[in-house]
Amino acid sequence: MPHVAATDRYESMLYNRCGRSGLRLPAVSLGLWHNFGGVDAYDTGRAIVRRAFDRGVTHFDLANNYGPPPGSAEENFGRMLRDDLRPYRDELVISTKAGYTMWPGPYGDWGSRKYLLASLDQSLQRLGLEYVDIFYSHRPDLDTPLEETMGALVSALRQGKALYVGLSNYTAEQTNQACEILDRLGVHCLIHQPKYSMFERWVEGGLLDVLGERGIGCIAFSPLAQGLLTDRYLEGIPAGSRAAKPHGFLKREQLTAERIATVRKLNELARRRGQTLAQMALAWVLRDPRVTTVLIGASSVTQLEQNLACLEQRSFTGEELSEIEAILQ
Ligand SMILES: NC(=O)c1ccc[n+]([C@@H]2O[C@H](COP(=O)([O-])OP(=O)(O)OC[C@H]3O[C@@H](n4cnc5c(N)ncnc54)[C@H](OP(=O)(O)O)[C@@H]3O)[C@@H](O)[C@H]2O)c1
Repeated sequence: MPHVAATDRYESMLYNRCGRSGLRLPAVSLGLWHNFGGVDAYDTGRAIVRRAFDRGVTHFDLANNYGPPPGSAEENFGRMLRDDLRPYRDELVISTKAGYTMWPGPYGDWGSRKYLLASLDQSLQRLGLEYVDIFYSHRPDLDTPLEETMGALVSALRQGKALYVGLSNYTAEQTNQACEILDRLGVHCLIHQPKYSMFERWVEGGLLDVLGERGIGCIAFSPLAQGLLTDRYLEGIPAGSRAAKPHGFLKREQLTAERIATVRKLNELARRRGQTLAQMALAWVLRDPRVTTVLIGASSVTQLEQNLACLEQRSFTGEELSEIEAILQ
C-alpha cells in the first residue's frame, strides 16, 4: 500500500531559513548513512522514513557511497520514493554528495569534474529522480583545482540535475575560497555540512563565522556523536548498536571509560532539564542561530520520535550552558 501522509505533518516541526536563501529546512533532518543500506532491513528503514515525513521532516540526506554496499542507501531510498513518497516529491528536499571512493580507477573518487558529474548521474539513476535538491562536494580535494570542483557543481545546476549546491567537510578557509569561486560563477553556496556535536566542536573555531557572514546555512552531522551522546552505551555495548556492527563507523575504542563517565554526567543534567540526553545534545547544537538543522541518524522509529521531541525544550539557562562546558572540559 502506498503511504498516505499524515494531514497534520506540518503542525509541530520548526522550519529554519537556510542562510540567505529562499529555502527553509526542518530543524531536524534525517540522514541515511547507516541503517538504510543493503545490509539493513528495508522495512525498518521504510518505517523510519515514513514516520519522519509524517512528522514534518522534509529533508533527507544521502551520498553516493552510503550503504553498505555503496549506492544501496540511494537505491533503497529510490524504492521508498516509488513506494511511498512519489506524490510528495515537491514537499521533499533530497540531497546527495560525491567525494569519497565510489568505483575503481582514477575517476571514482575525490573532486574532479569527471567524477562528480558521472557520480551525480549514477545517484539520480539509483534514486529514480531527475534532479536532487542539493548536490554537495563531500570533501575538499587538495590535488584538484578548486575551480574545477566548483565548476562541476555549477554545471550540475545548469544541467538541471541539482537545485542548490553545498560543501561538506571544508575548513573555514577552504569554504571562503570555494565561495569566492562560486560567487564569480554567479552561484550562492546554499549550505555547509560539517560534523558538530558536544564532542566535536571544530566549527566554533571559524567556520560558523564564515557561514554567518556569507549567509550560508549549516546542517550539523552526527550531532549525537553517532549515538555516544545518548543513553545507548551507558550499560555497555548492546547487540545491534552501531558500535557492535562490523561495518559501523563508531568503533569500540571510542567508548573509553572517560568518555562514558562524561556521558553519564551529561545524562544526569539532561534528566534534571526534563529531557533525554539525545534531546539535550540536539537542542545544544541548535542553540546557535547559524545552525539551520541537525542531521540525525536513527535505527528505529522510537529513536526518531525521541529525537524529534528535542524541539519541545530547546532553551538553556546560562548556568546549564556553563555546567555543560565544565563537564566537557
Ligand atoms: N558529510 C559527511 O561527511 C557525513 C559524515 C557522517 C554523517 N553524515 C550525515 O549525517 C547523518 C547522521 O549521522 P549519524 O548517523 O552519525 O548521526 P547521529 O545522530 O550522531 O547518530 C545516529 C545514531 O545514534 C543512535 N541514536 C540515535 N538516536 C538515538 C536515541 N534517541 N537513543 C539512543 N540511540 C540513538 C543510533 O545508533 P544505533 O544504530 O546504535 O541505534 C543512530 O543510528 C548521516 O546519516 C549522514 O546523512 C555526513
